[in-house]
Amino acid sequence: MALKGSYSTLLLSLVLLGAWLALATGRLPNPAKDQFLRRHWDNPKTQATNNTAYCRLLTRCRGIYRRNNTFIHAPTDAINSVCTNGGRPISGNRRRSIRLFRLTICKFNPNARNYTGKSLFRRIVIICRNRFPVRLVRPIRFRPWL
Ligand SMILES: *[C@@H]1O[C@H](CO)[C@@H](O)[C@H](O)[C@H]1NC(C)=O
Ligand SMILES: *[C@@H]1O[C@H](CO)[C@@H](O)[C@H](O)[C@H]1NC(C)=O
Ligand SMILES: *[C@@H]1O[C@H](CO)[C@@H](O)[C@H](O)[C@H]1NC(C)=O
Repeated sequence: MALKGSYSTLLLSLVLLGAWLALATGRLPNPAKDQFLRRHWDNPKTQATNNTAYCRLLTRCRGIYRRNNTFIHAPTDAINSVCTNGGRPISGNRRRSIRLFRLTICKFNPNARNYTGKSLFRRIVIICRNRFPVRLVRPIRFRPWL
C-alpha cells in the first residue's frame, strides 16, 4: 500500500537522520546546533523525483511540513566554518558565507497545499552562537564586490 510505503520511508529517514546527526555533531549534544542541522542540513541531497516531491518528503521527515524551509547540501564543516574563517560579519551577530552553497528553497503554498522547490547556488546569511550556526537568515545573491 502506498501509504504504508511512504510511512516506512519516513521511519527510515528518521533513523538515518538520527545516525547522521550522531556522526555530524560528535558525542556532546548541543541543542541549538542539532536543531540547525536537523532543520537545514541534507548532504548529499536526498533523491526525489522533483523538487516538489523533495520538499514534501524532507519537511515531513524533519517535522516541519507546511513550513517554508531551506536545505543546505554541503558538509557540516563547510557550514560551521561560516561562523569562523569561512564567513564575514555583517550586522549584529549575522555572518555571510564567503563561499556559495548548493541549496534547495522550499516554499509552501497554503492555498494549493503544495510545495514549490527551487535549486540555487548562493551565499547564505546565518546567525552564530559559540562559533556554531543557530539560525539561517536567508540566501543572498553572489555579488563579487562583497
Ligand atoms: C513531481 O513528481 C511527482 C511524482 O513524484 C508528480 O506527481 C508531480 O506531478 C511532479 N511535479 C512536478 C511539478 O513536476
Ligand atoms: C512562505 O513563502 C511564501 C512565498 O514567499 C510566502 O508567501 C509565505 O508567507 C511564506 N510562509 C511563511 C509561513 O512564512
Ligand atoms: C501547486 O498548486 C497550484 C494550484 O493548484 C498549481 O498552479 C501549481 O502548479 C502547483 N505547484 C506545483 C509545484 O505543483
